[in-house]
Amino acid sequence: MLKAKGITKKFKHQIVLQEASLEVDSEIKALIGINGSGKSTFLKILAGIVSADHGSVLLNGIDVAGLPPEKRNVGYVPQHPALFRHLTVKENILYGMRNGRGSIEAYERVVALLDLESILDKYPRELSGGYRTRTSLARALVPKPQILLMDEPLTGIDVVLKERILPDFRKVLKELQVPVLYVTHDPKEAELLADNYAIMDDGKIRQLDTAAEAFELIRTSILKNYA
Ligand SMILES: Nc1ncnc2c1ncn2[C@@H]1O[C@H](COP(=O)(O)OP(=O)(O)O)[C@@H](O)[C@H]1O
Ligand SMILES: [Mg+2]
Repeated sequence: MLKAKGITKKFKHQIVLQEASLEVDSEIKALIGINGSGKSTFLKILAGIVSADHGSVLLNGIDVAGLPPEKRNVGYVPQHPALFRHLTVKENILYGMRNGRGSIEAYERVVALLDLESILDKYPRELSGGYRTRTSLARALVPKPQILLMDEPLTGIDVVLKERILPDFRKVLKELQVPVLYVTHDPKEAELLADNYAIMDDGKIRQLDTAAEAFELIRTSILKNYA
């Protein structure tokens, strides 16, 4: 499905990613790393918003190096859900279907799965943080992306709510059978959502099978960087 190989990225003299490689098949994978470890940069490279200095990104076997974001058929939920303030929830979600992507059936399915029917006519300012994230997720899902990239979409949301929202999201994403790469600095969040895990540290990525391994490595990373 997604194969990123040897991704290297420098900003001026700072090496952010150094030969980072990662594969995502038909699973929900959490990519965990401390703040500033290069998670967002990596995700933006996959989405086509930032270009890598070296390395390749394959989607279903096709090298997407030359393709702009809209041609990649990749869903992207950024860290701060950028909903249009002057559009309703419904209009915001339909925006995901511009350029003939998605279908009314996909729209209706996603709205039902994410429990958005009763708020379709509301404006973003009238929504809680949780529902803003749900709307942003719906907008990314209606075009039926071949993979969904999520960048810490629950930043600023209370932990009690996260414990409710993440299992819900997991159900929806499994139901739609969309592969997911979910970026977070919080191993707890990762455990509530993902099938398996990867750690970003020192510009590199390590893939892991269990939450326990991920917890241990992220602890080491935090101690090394902050202690
Ligand atoms: N456009 C940019 N220009 C210069 N430095 C950047 C840019 N984007 C990110 N960085 C730097 O790259 C590092 C990794 O950032 P980022 O990918 O946002 O990490 P994370 O998402 O893990 O917190 C940080 O030190 C950040 O300051
Ligand atoms: Mg980030």
